[in-house]
Amino acid sequence: MNSMALLEVRNLISGYGKFRVLHNVTLDVREREVTVIVGPNGAGKTTLLNSIMGIATVFDGVIRYDGRNIRGLPTHMISRMGIAYLPQMGNVFTDLTVAENLRLASYLLDKSEVNERLGEVLELFPVLKSFLNRKAGTLSGGERRMLAIAMGLMRRPRLLLLDEITTDLAPIIAKRVLKQVVDLRDKLGLTVVLVEQMARMALELGDYAYLLVSGSIRFSGKAPELLSHPDFAELYLGVKKI
Ligand SMILES: Nc1ncnc2c1ncn2[C@@H]1O[C@H](COP(=O)(O)OP(=O)(O)O)[C@@H](O)[C@H]1O
Ligand SMILES: [Mg+2]
Repeated sequence: MNSMALLEVRNLISGYGKFRVLHNVTLDVREREVTVIVGPNGAGKTTLLNSIMGIATVFDGVIRYDGRNIRGLPTHMISRMGIAYLPQMGNVFTDLTVAENLRLASYLLDKSEVNERLGEVLELFPVLKSFLNRKAGTLSGGERRMLAIAMGLMRRPRLLLLDEITTDLAPIIAKRVLKQVVDLRDKLGLTVVLVEQMARMALELGDYAYLLVSGSIRFSGKAPELLSHPDFAELYLGVKKI
C-alpha cells in the first residue's frame, strides 16, 4: 500500500448491470497531486469515476479513500466524506441563477455556513461575483465550467473528480479552466483526478497520468513521460501495447 495515496483502486472490475467495462484497474491518487486519466471514447473513464462514487456496479476489487474502504457505500456518504464529483454532462442548472446554483450545491449546510462558503468560492472565482443574479444558462462555456467547479468546492472537498470539464470549449478557454484547477490545488491543497479529452493540455499540467484503453490501464507514470512517449499516439488509440 502506498501511504501517500489518498485514493487507491486495486484490481477493480466494474460496469453496469452484468456488463463489464473495467478489467482489473489499479491506480493510486496521491495527495495534492493532479492525476490525469486519458483514453479514447468508450475506454471506461467515466465508469471509473462512477465506480469510485458508488454509481456503477462493482464486481470485484478494492476502492480505498483516506485509508477506508468505500466500495459499496452509497453515493451521498462518499460525497460527505469529502469527494466532490463533477459529472461529464449538465453540471449546472441553467434555469437557476449563479447564486441559486451555488446555494443548491451546499444543501444540508446551515445558512451562516452557506454564506461563509459562498464568500470563499467567490474569492477563488471573483468573476462569478458580477454574475450572481444571472441565469447560469446565459454564461459562456468557460464561465459555466468555473461555476460548476465553484459548486463542487462549496462543501470543502479534499478530493475533486472532474470528468471532461473542457468539452466544447475553445482551446484557449480550456487551457484557462485547466490552469485554474491546478491553481486551486496549489491554493487549497486539493487532490484532483482529471479525466480529460484534451489529453495533451492535461498532461502538460498534471503530475501523474494513467492511460485507459478498452477498460484496462495501458500506461502509468509521470504525466510528462506519457506525453513524450514515442508511441503515445498509437498507445492512445489502442493500436499498440506495452
Ligand atoms: N449507464 C450505462 N449502462 C450501460 N453501459 C454503459 C453505461 N454508461 C457507459 N456504458 C458503456 O461503458 C463503456 C465505457 O463508457 P464510459 O465509461 O462512458 O467511457 P469514457 O468515459 O471513457 O468515454 C462504453 O462501452 C459504454 O457504452
Ligand atoms: Mg466519459
